[in-house]
Amino acid sequence: MAYLWLIPILLVSLINGTIGRPLYPLPGKLQHKHKEPLQSFRPYNIAHRGSNGEIPEETVPAYMRAIEEGADFIETDILASKDGKLICFHDVALDDITNVADHKEFANRKATYEVQGKNMTGWFIVDFTLDELKSLRLKQRYEFRDQQYNGKFEIITFEEFISIALDANRIVGIYPEIKSPVFINQHVKWSDGKKFEDKFVETLLKYGYKGAYKSKEWQEQPVFIQSFAPSSLIHVSSLTSSPKILLIDNINIPTQDTNQTYAEITSDSYFSYIKNYVVGIGPLKDTIVPPMNNYLSTATDLVAKAHAHNLQVHPYTYKNENKFLHFNFHQDPYAEYDFWINVIGIDGLFTDFTGVFINIKNGHPL
Ligand SMILES: *[C@@H]1O[C@H](CO)[C@@H](O)[C@H](O)[C@H]1NC(C)=O
Ligand SMILES: *[C@@H]1O[C@H](CO)[C@@H](O)[C@H](O)[C@H]1NC(C)=O
Repeated sequence: MAYLWLIPILLVSLINGTIGRPLYPLPGKLQHKHKEPLQSFRPYNIAHRGSNGEIPEETVPAYMRAIEEGADFIETDILASKDGKLICFHDVALDDITNVADHKEFANRKATYEVQGKNMTGWFIVDFTLDELKSLRLKQRYEFRDQQYNGKFEIITFEEFISIALDANRIVGIYPEIKSPVFINQHVKWSDGKKFEDKFVETLLKYGYKGAYKSKEWQEQPVFIQSFAPSSLIHVSSLTSSPKILLIDNINIPTQDTNQTYAEITSDSYFSYIKNYVVGIGPLKDTIVPPMNNYLSTATDLVAKAHAHNLQVHPYTYKNENKFLHFNFHQDPYAEYDFWINVIGIDGLFTDFTGVFINIKNGHPL
């Protein structure tokens, strides 16, 4: 065990050595036929925005760390730049996790746009070209997490993200989200008249992501396409048979495209319909087991209902810090994973701490 402390240091020196040079040659170099396959003995370990509990989200080092720690899937949000390039970034505005405010040349780029029914002011991704976005540096989203990497890493493209997965020395899946499609299609236009969702699928196909869930092609290059927008998932169903996951937001938030309520999209009749397009749902975990005074209350029937329709359930987001753990788990993240895997019976989960989840063997903490 004594040498384990060395790993982060080695990783960081590797990372520091790559700054300023192209991150990855495109496309991925390794052949998948010699690689260790995706595990199937426990629910999927989905590295939420990479190992973002440790390293700023959706950066090369965060994804490399997640792979090193045993992620089955690396997860990302896809948005589009002003010049139509697909990039990995969660927020439609750059303000919270980049140094855009320090770039005087972009001071006049601040704007106000309506985003999901609310006016928001900030520096919006859709007003910056890819080159301009690449000049920014990312920082850690939460002040209670490690700040040492702030200002070091850049925004990456969807293609760079794919290359990280393809270059891994074992099979690592990708889990990209069609993020804020209503907003992106409003503000970004492609010269060929295609939509954001079309460009998203074109990129996956270009790098060989295809085939239904558990098909041979899928096992070699696993992918789940995720979105909160049902109409985006239905649209891409006509373009690719890759498996899709419908994300489900909090109970008071309507869908951004079809303005449907939580009750509507979690009903039996809706599951009967949407299962023609998706292989599962990705709900906010507190909607499955609602907390009360930071203790868990009785679980809803959402998981049973989804399973009855042969839909997988991949809840989000698991965070190790005490402030996110309900009191039932007595400050032990392993107790939380144990509960969700063995009591609730989920099929995969989005975690900020890939390395902790990997220490679950056959569904039990080590
Ligand atoms: C946003 O601001 C514009 C311009 O002031 C206004 O016309 C619009 O109604 C506002 N939208 C919302 C949702 O407040
Ligand atoms: C969305 O639906 C609600 C009712 O559930 C309605 O009050 C609201 O006006 C609708 N919003 C839009 C943008 O259609």
